[in-house]
Amino acid sequence: DIVFILNGPNLNLLGTREPEIYGHQTLADIEAMCAEKAGALGLQTVFRQSNHEGELVDWLHEAKERDAKAVLLNAAAYTHTSIALLDAIKAIGVPVVEVHLSDPETREEFRHISYVGMAAAATVQGLGAQSYIVALEKAASL
Ligand code: DQA
Repeated sequence: DIVFILNGPNLNLLGTREPEIYGHQTLADIEAMCAEKAGALGLQTVFRQSNHEGELVDWLHEAKERDAKAVLLNAAAYTHTSIALLDAIKAIGVPVVEVHLSDPETREEFRHISYVGMAAAATVQGLGAQSYIVALEKAASL
């Protein structure tokens, strides 16, 4: 089974981006952690990052076309703004696990709304890079 792991804007800067909030691990470190965990769970992964909302929409469609078992989605700031991502999640019929490194609900008020969360099968947040690992376990058990 294949799991798409999709990352949104500014996550390419992990490691140097506000490390007190997001930690010191780079996105490449997280990709390697996910590949190892997925292997142990018998899953294949497609791991991508984009700063462009529409590209994330296209990749959600691709997850459906490729009959993915699940999608892990850290939509970053688009989480809090994107009706297009919400609609895409509803459209594809592939379970989406919402992922965040930080816990948006304990941060600024504008991070308290999650359009992704309105259609996600589950949410894992606030565990740093470990959020991805717990989300993979959830995806495997869906
Ligand atoms: C984030 C939380 C979002 O609020 C923020 O815009 C991000 C990263 C996280 O992983 O903690 O860019 O999705």
